[in-house]
Amino acid sequence: MLKKVGILANGGDVSGFNAVIRAIVKTAENHNIECYGIIDGYNGLIKKDFELLSTAEGGEAIGILPLGGSIIGSSTNSNLFNYKVVNQDGSVEYKDLSDEAIKNIKEFGFDCIFTLGGDGTQKSARDFSTKGVNVIGVPKTIDNDVACTEITFGYNTAVSVAMEALDRLHTTGATHHRIMVLEVMGRYAGWIALESAIAGGADVALIPEIPYDINKVASKIENRKKRGKNFSIVVVAEGAKPIGGELTIMGTRDNGKGVDNTKLGGIGQVVAKQLQELTGLEARNTTLGYMQRGGTPTAFDRVLSTKYGTKAMELALEGKFGTLAVIKNGKLDSVSLEEVVGNNTKIGAVSGNTEESNLRKVTMDDDLVKTARNIGINLGD
Ligand code: F6P
Repeated sequence: MLKKVGILANGGDVSGFNAVIRAIVKTAENHNIECYGIIDGYNGLIKKDFELLSTAEGGEAIGILPLGGSIIGSSTNSNLFNYKVVNQDGSVEYKDLSDEAIKNIKEFGFDCIFTLGGDGTQKSARDFSTKGVNVIGVPKTIDNDVACTEITFGYNTAVSVAMEALDRLHTTGATHHRIMVLEVMGRYAGWIALESAIAGGADVALIPEIPYDINKVASKIENRKKRGKNFSIVVVAEGAKPIGGELTIMGTRDNGKGVDNTKLGGIGQVVAKQLQELTGLEARNTTLGYMQRGGTPTAFDRVLSTKYGTKAMELALEGKFGTLAVIKNGKLDSVSLEEVVGNNTKIGAVSGNTEESNLRKVTMDDDLVKTARNIGINLGD
């Protein structure tokens, strides 16, 4: 019998966090189960920062369906298996605080913890599950790269934001006869770039899965010019790289030890400059950035998040712990966290989103790739 459950949101935020939280709370309330938010991701388990979530009059979970962000916060550096501790003398140590977290979970009486997050978050969840904690994961990320599911919540909103940006770049690009480059997020997967390129009518989409030849891209633009189309729209995934070349990196971030601290970014500018030189057309880059993560979720993401939230609670009621709610063949399903983490062994105890993670990348037989090619979107190869 479940009496008390906790929800944590972890990793970079997405539109749809709150919709999942609301769905879990509502389903839980239908079964007289008390729901708590664990504040700021896994951090909340150490700080014992728990907040009652309810949809009763005055409750925290009212009116949150359209809200961006997360009412219970989120964290990008709360790897409790390798946690950064700053001592009083300023020295830094990395400690395994997982047992302390488990003690707090037991003391507070959580019967299950829902972990809303991407591959790094679910790896932590798997490790807590191995240590006996009841966990159920929900796959989140704008990057759409969590293994074992066809779609993550937050992704559709990111694609929609990118599509709107492309619509706007179209009119200014056409007016000034320019090449308009849009750099989108996605880390080592090209889902956002590819899908938004199709939705936004782009001419070129460069994705990490297909290293590009800039001369082929320039030819595509030249051919358009010959047909009287003296502007072009190019979508570049932040993780795209040229054949035989490297990733373009903006800097590093401090997400802890053993995790991916690469701050991707800058490839859009590089591509724009090269295309200007090669084609003689003026080129401009726009980097879309965090717009893709903020604000209200699309209708699709509201529904997907609600489905995921209710499925997660159902799994908990059925006692199917150590699993991730997923979409398989278009339907709600579940898989073991073990399978989700897969052979993600190359990196530290808890981390994710590195090139070596068990990520779901774009495959060449994906309908999006075929569709893009069929309508003449140049993929840089
Ligand atoms: O994984 C989600 C994501 O938004 C990526 O698309 C992007 O590379 C990264 O997070 C940015 O991370 P941060 O919030 O650390 O800048």
